Amino acid sequence: MIDARDTLGRHEILLIGANGFLGKVLLALLLARFPHFRHLHVVMRPKRRLSPQQRFEREVLASPPLEAVLERFGRSRIPERITVHAGDLGEPDCGLSEEALEALAGRVGLVINCAGLVEFFPPVDDSFATNVDGVEHVIGLVRRLGAKLLHVSTCFVCGEADGLIEESEPILGFYPRRKGPRDQGFRHDREIRYMRERIAEIYHAAGLNRGDRRPREITQKLSDLGLQRAYQWGWTNTYTYTKSLGEQLIAAEEDLEYAIVRPAIVEAALEFPLPGWVEGGRTAVPLVMMAMSGLRHWAVREDAPMEVVPVDLAVSAILIAGVMLLNGCAEQVYHVSTADVNPIYYGDLIRMLYREYRRRRRSGNGGFRLPVPPLGVRVLTPEEARRRGELQQKTITLLQQWATDTRRLMERNGLPGVQGVRRLATRLRQTGLRIMVRDQALDLYRPFMHDNRFIFESENIRAAWRRLREEDQRKLPWNPEQIDWRDYWINREVEGVRKWVRAESALGV
Ligand SMILES: NC(=O)c1ccc[n+]([C@@H]2O[C@H](COP(=O)([O-])OP(=O)(O)OC[C@H]3O[C@@H](n4cnc5c(N)ncnc54)[C@H](OP(=O)(O)O)[C@@H]3O)[C@@H](O)[C@H]2O)c1
Repeated sequence: MIDARDTLGRHEILLIGANGFLGKVLLALLLARFPHFRHLHVVMRPKRRLSPQQRFEREVLASPPLEAVLERFGRSRIPERITVHAGDLGEPDCGLSEEALEALAGRVGLVINCAGLVEFFPPVDDSFATNVDGVEHVIGLVRRLGAKLLHVSTCFVCGEADGLIEESEPILGFYPRRKGPRDQGFRHDREIRYMRERIAEIYHAAGLNRGDRRPREITQKLSDLGLQRAYQWGWTNTYTYTKSLGEQLIAAEEDLEYAIVRPAIVEAALEFPLPGWVEGGRTAVPLVMMAMSGLRHWAVREDAPMEVVPVDLAVSAILIAGVMLLNGCAEQVYHVSTADVNPIYYGDLIRMLYREYRRRRRSGNGGFRLPVPPLGVRVLTPEEARRRGELQQKTITLLQQWATDTRRLMERNGLPGVQGVRRLATRLRQTGLRIMVRDQALDLYRPFMHDNRFIFESENIRAAWRRLREEDQRKLPWNPEQIDWRDYWINREVEGVRKWVRAESALGV
């Protein structure tokens, strides 16, 4: 039996990424369930003229997840239990001062790297800065401190896939199009060197230094480079490609005690810190918003499960893996997902959300009963979806032309109603923009909804959870098999998005 309470009471932890979606919930869970944790060091960079301490207070302590637990923990205890250090993943030893490094060496038992650039198609040098160079710097820091490393990655480092992805797949030398264990075609060190050279060439040719403001065409070139390289090896985007490189850097280290936790798509909380707590538009939030505004046509693979995990289960798993690592009994990789025991399929999900959309219209949310569309969901091929989008755009363009001609005609002849036609033209322009944003968003999710089928084996976290004492099992739940997906999607995710994520009207097509 592993005693999480005792472990966390004995070891100091250093957390990078505390102000992120996962980082905040992780911190809240520690405060709420293990209030006698020994000490937490948080590394943050200054930003927008705020010092790390100011950012910690505004972005972390004043955020809903922390607000929800701070009263019980006691605000006055924060300064004695949590120390904020200035640092940046972009610098050696994560930019910690020599003084801080000396003070922390031998004291910190575990470094949790929960920082990452989660954008799918960013300029590749930005992605490298956090997900590759950043990991190199974290490794340097962990070595300086004599600590162990718990690194948060993603299940989707597997790239293109169709079926079960095992946790035992070797990390080093992995690339999605690998032709078996003998295939030595990918070397992360060669790949990283190659990309650094290409990035330097792009900057050099443009007469720019790193950190200079980039003209738009250079940003585009850097984004294209990342994508082209990711696709060439079989990764789905620049994010998963660079996250895999980061993992390979860790796996190549000798005598480094580490564990890699790979969550799937992290979504709204089941219960903790608040039912439905969710943040940002990186996750499936845009899809939920589109579904709840009545999107009926979807290019999805109906029999593919959507690999999601509620954020409270994801951070619970991170802490469990951290506890295992501190006790010297961690596995190398922990998939943190749901479909291997309790899948929710895309076909069922979009129909369920569409039914809910119709129900809400029928029952008259906000007092008005709205007409309910008579037709149900239609599943399209990506090609059909593309043609449909093009047709919609063409129709909008024609209507816009008609509105412009009509307005001119009315103005020339002094006819009334010009304002009305102007308003119509504005509406048409907005609709055209919304369709464009919708189609771009659907394209972004296409590898996950249509092109691949992922089922992540999550046996290691199940086994680790079973090793915890009963009291710790309650504090660090891992029970995806018990999720009622209908209840979750309607009462947690949809409600969470409505409550916590500001409606992005651009997606309300
Ligand atoms: N969200 C998901 O669905 C999901 C799914 C699977 C895996 N993950 C992984 O989980 C981790 C956390 O994700 P998240 O959703 O919490 O991301 P997030 O909300 O975007 O937070 C990212 C965190 O990383 C920090 N960071 C980025 N670059 C940094 C740098 N150069 N120096 C210092 N800090 C830096 C950010 O700090 P600043 O505010 O200073 O930028 C922020 O604290 C990532 O590694 C991600 O790959 C996330």
